[in-house]
Amino acid sequence: MPGEELRELANRAVAEIAGAADDAALEAARVKYLGRKEGALSEATKRIAKLPPGEKPAYGAAVNEGKLRIERALEERTRALREARVARDLGGEREDMSLPPRRVRVGRLHPISQTVREVSRVFATMGFETVEGPEIEWDYYNFEALNIPPGHPAREKWQTLWISNPLGDDPSRPLLGRTHTSPMQIRVMEQRRPPVRVVIPGRCYRYEATDAIRESIFFQYEGLAIDEKLTMADLKGVLFSFARQIFGSDRKIRFRIDYFPFTEPSAEIAFDCFSCEGRDPECRVCGGDGWIEAAGCGMVHPDVLRRVGYDPKRYQGFAFGGGIERLAMLRTGAPDIRLFYQNDLRYLEQF
Ligand code: PHE
Repeated sequence: MPGEELRELANRAVAEIAGAADDAALEAARVKYLGRKEGALSEATKRIAKLPPGEKPAYGAAVNEGKLRIERALEERTRALREARVARDLGGEREDMSLPPRRVRVGRLHPISQTVREVSRVFATMGFETVEGPEIEWDYYNFEALNIPPGHPAREKWQTLWISNPLGDDPSRPLLGRTHTSPMQIRVMEQRRPPVRVVIPGRCYRYEATDAIRESIFFQYEGLAIDEKLTMADLKGVLFSFARQIFGSDRKIRFRIDYFPFTEPSAEIAFDCFSCEGRDPECRVCGGDGWIEAAGCGMVHPDVLRRVGYDPKRYQGFAFGGGIERLAMLRTGAPDIRLFYQNDLRYLEQF
């Protein structure tokens, strides 16, 4: 009764497979019954050849049937083990479709970035292109080309963070963190022929103690216009329009004489206080002065023009530079510049 034997063999195999605890046990059972070399079913198959011809078909059919049952049992157990593993990994978790979704936090621009963009946008309305330049600068661009040679007393106006020169510490080419955006006047003029109309926002560095209105790292915006027949009236017009676009159409603007080595004449610009309009002696914005100092400016010095190869008889122009944080404080009502850089989201998220 070889057929009977085979059925029992298959029964045993199916039971063993169903009880396999893991993949390894399952594989061992597969080899034991279906393995090519010593698998029990393979042995049975080999035996077919030795049977008398009359018994071959029945026996062959029994072998095949046994094989099929074992294969099916293997497949089933494989799937069951995989499902058990997934369930275990999920720790029995289920999706709870009734849970409210997690809140998506939408980011936004930092108030300083907003102000930089606003400045660029306003000057763009007057034909100024925004360009940027290096924060690590040569002494030449930051000072010398701006009529501030070594030893010039005006250097003290810009407390400087010097940087050891990685290109061999050549003391004749000192590096620094730019103390203002004015070096970009030179870089732009070196690269372009007039007419020039650019605005340059960017980070600056000064060796300075921090307080409510000063940071050692801060942003400035620089403006430069060079053309034939530009005058101080053009400078005034541009800054007047800027003040009114930023702070409203009633703004007045005050020019007072000032000194910068790279402009002549030079001026300091102030806006009339948009908060108290000069009427509140205790005003928190202007300190009761009625005016808010905003920028330095002037007509570009002929020596500066000559240095970049412009003919000062044909071309002249104006430049201005002011602090971005200052504008941002005025725009947002921030009482302290340090609030911008503490990066406390409870503060920054208001804007
Ligand atoms: N760079 C000057 C400063 O930082 C401001 C300035 C810019 C003055 C352009 C005149 C012209 O104080």
